[in-house]
Amino acid sequence: MNLLTLHRDEARHAFFEEHSSSPPFFDTAMGCWIVANPRHIEQLLLEPRLGPADYAGPYEQLTRKRGLPFPNIQFASRHLPFCLEGAEHQQSRRRVAGLLSLRRAAAVEEMEDFVDRAFSVFDRGGTVELMSEVIAPLVLHAIRSVADARFMGADDFMASAAFFDRMLGPKKRLQLESRLGAIRSKLRDSIDGISQDEEGVRLTLFLAGYETLLGTLGESVHWVLRQHQAARLCDVPFPDFPPQTGVPIIERRVAESFEFAGVRLSAGERLRFYLQAFTYGDEPKAGIFGLGPRTCLGKQLSLEAWRIVTGALMRKPTRFRILEYEARSDNYIFTCPKTLLLEAS
Ligand code: HEM
Repeated sequence: MNLLTLHRDEARHAFFEEHSSSPPFFDTAMGCWIVANPRHIEQLLLEPRLGPADYAGPYEQLTRKRGLPFPNIQFASRHLPFCLEGAEHQQSRRRVAGLLSLRRAAAVEEMEDFVDRAFSVFDRGGTVELMSEVIAPLVLHAIRSVADARFMGADDFMASAAFFDRMLGPKKRLQLESRLGAIRSKLRDSIDGISQDEEGVRLTLFLAGYETLLGTLGESVHWVLRQHQAARLCDVPFPDFPPQTGVPIIERRVAESFEFAGVRLSAGERLRFYLQAFTYGDEPKAGIFGLGPRTCLGKQLSLEAWRIVTGALMRKPTRFRILEYEARSDNYIFTCPKTLLLEAS
């Protein structure tokens, strides 16, 4: 079992069935604790002796050992709530929540205005690549609208969520550094007098919002469609809640040693929580958005996006067949279809 790629492997279904009530176990290949039991994930996400994952650590090492500079990664780690603790974390969350509550209605309106245009590709018949032709443009509208940054393009965000991926080599880390640098320059060039906090909030929305929403919508639509091959889109019973997630894994670091479910979690060790476990059976589906003090701030916007996308699909009398599905493999932390090609007739 390769736990590094489990989240996009068909083998994951058997894995989650087997581990839904297991205690955490230490995987030597991954060098961390694996937690796939939803009850344990719920308890541990409320545990104050766990701290955030050390996203900046590998960059600091590269700077120390090879003199490589990462000023934009450092900036992100001082502003993204994912990297912060205590009062700094709360302040960062408050800033993000503030912009989200101010802009969410506009973003929803933007998606609603755009959705029929995006889905008109079905009316031409033939093949439709659902990710690049429909879902990605819609998510781009949502994220740049909520961040009040219409000047951003899809290329600006793509692969920037690699920030959360600890499996990157130095070359990819340098690419990410320059990608974040380019996003920041664009923000400073386009918004007069933007403060560092305002920049940090927007960076958070791009990094936390774009690929997560793209992946969740893509994986969920694929999951439902594959169970209804050759049906008409208007006859597909899409559920109210996305059945799959683009954020299958989150991580934490043990700040202070403690015993949990018969195992000892020692200071400095990493834990990997498989949130995908919440997509099975009667588990509370909302678990895919995390819980506790770091729960997702984009949940409401994401559920609106799901409602809008599934609503538009259910208005189409088009008969479809899935011709090709391929998952992205350039990332070890998120899931997202690279290709979702449909035949529409
Ligand atoms: C359906 C798509 C999404 C999923 C499945 C998802 C999932 C998650 C999860 C699991 C967390 C908790 C992370 C942790 O505990 O380490 C989280 C946090 C967060 N998410 Fe989302 N998310 C989604 C969309 C979005 C969007 C669209 C935005 C913003 C526009 C967003 C912004 C955030 C922020 C700001 C946090 C807070 C992190 C913290 O306080 O440390 N998310 N998300």
